[in-house]
Amino acid sequence: MAIRTILKMGEPLLLQEASLVSPTSIATDEIQLIIQDLLDTMTAANGAGLAAPQIGVPLQIVVFGFEKNNRYPNEAPVPQTILINPIITPLSDEKVSGWEGCLSVPGLRGVVPRFVHIRYQGFDQHGHSIDRQVSGFHARVVQHECDHLIGKLYPMRVEDFTQFGFTEVLFPDL
Ligand code: NI
Repeated sequence: MAIRTILKMGEPLLLQEASLVSPTSIATDEIQLIIQDLLDTMTAANGAGLAAPQIGVPLQIVVFGFEKNNRYPNEAPVPQTILINPIITPLSDEKVSGWEGCLSVPGLRGVVPRFVHIRYQGFDQHGHSIDRQVSGFHARVVQHECDHLIGKLYPMRVEDFTQFGFTEVLFPDL
């Protein structure tokens, strides 16, 4: 296992589009090691999710999920998921605003509008298909993580900058 350095906003790699993973390469040691490093790094940082570009790997791999998360103590659990080559389809136009943070943007939080209901598809770590319809915080986490694969960080989605600031000021208990 390896805990990797998480790149911070300002790093050009975080603004790049990530490449598709060849489905036949999912079982290789190289990809399996990246997945393990993502999980180890996310766990060590108490993250709700992490995308491969955040550890310097420009591939379409994200991990997310938690039973209980100290960074988001009021949110319902999200199943631990490894998602490769994701495709997101909004299931309605409805959006909801909610607080987000990001391990690549440490110390800050902002309110971001996201689709309430989405379908997401992709492959898991075994190369099996994932096809889920989700809503709420689960849908928010998936949209946030998949944004990393198109070079988008959540501050680029903030619409009201009166709702963007330092975690220690906004949420002193976190
Ligand atoms: Ni993030």
